[in-house]
Amino acid sequence: VPTRVRMVVGNWKMHGSLALCREMVPAMASIAQPDTALVLCPPAPYLGEVARLAANTDVQCCAQNVADAHSGALTGEWSAGMLADLGCRYAIVGHSERRRHYHETDHMIAAKAQACLEAGITPIVCVGESWVQHQTGQTEVVLQHQLGTLLALPDWRRLIIAYEPVWAIGTGVAAQPDTVEAAHRYIRGRFATRDPIAGNSMTVLYGGSVNAENAMQLFALPDVDGALVGSASLQSDALMQIYTAA
Ligand code: G3P
Repeated sequence: VPTRVRMVVGNWKMHGSLALCREMVPAMASIAQPDTALVLCPPAPYLGEVARLAANTDVQCCAQNVADAHSGALTGEWSAGMLADLGCRYAIVGHSERRRHYHETDHMIAAKAQACLEAGITPIVCVGESWVQHQTGQTEVVLQHQLGTLLALPDWRRLIIAYEPVWAIGTGVAAQPDTVEAAHRYIRGRFATRDPIAGNSMTVLYGGSVNAENAMQLFALPDVDGALVGSASLQSDALMQIYTAA
């Protein structure tokens, strides 16, 4: 059973350039420590460059998406095995932007996570409720549903979960600490009902407007193991401050 890992994961989304890869990876490598994972998720065309620059450093490489199959006539897709081949250790799966714009369902997301696990890639699976669901008190029901398909995977103990309330993404305003802690405790509890030791050993990240100002407070929460950072991960000084807070 994997143990809880401190992690800061920078999701660039569809931003950045080759120049940013060449600036960011050495800057992050200069501060990365083996006890706290520092992971960069560039757009797919830059994964090879980031993996090459990050080799033999404590910076890790992560894809923002992955296919649910190992190979095939699937134009435009890439497999978890290809990521492993590059030296990537992780893939984000089921980000709310992919659920929303590319109609990814819980079933597809579970299949992608399974493909990652089979290829030795650790999936970072995103879950989280919308603003309306939050306002109407449905957070736990939504999480229960999203986690249900994941719990059906034989190797669910090896997943990393990122709680990203959709309403806190890209707004500049993170969820309140008590809201974050309650959701993380619920997520951990869901896995713990299946296996108490494994549930309590899982890594659960928070995502949604994490920045250099709020990182310390979020990382101090007992059930938060780190952050999935969007816009602040495009600036090396901000990402360095967040990493230092972790
Ligand atoms: O995956 C990270 C993310 O969705 C949060 O984005 O820009 O609010 O930090 P941002």
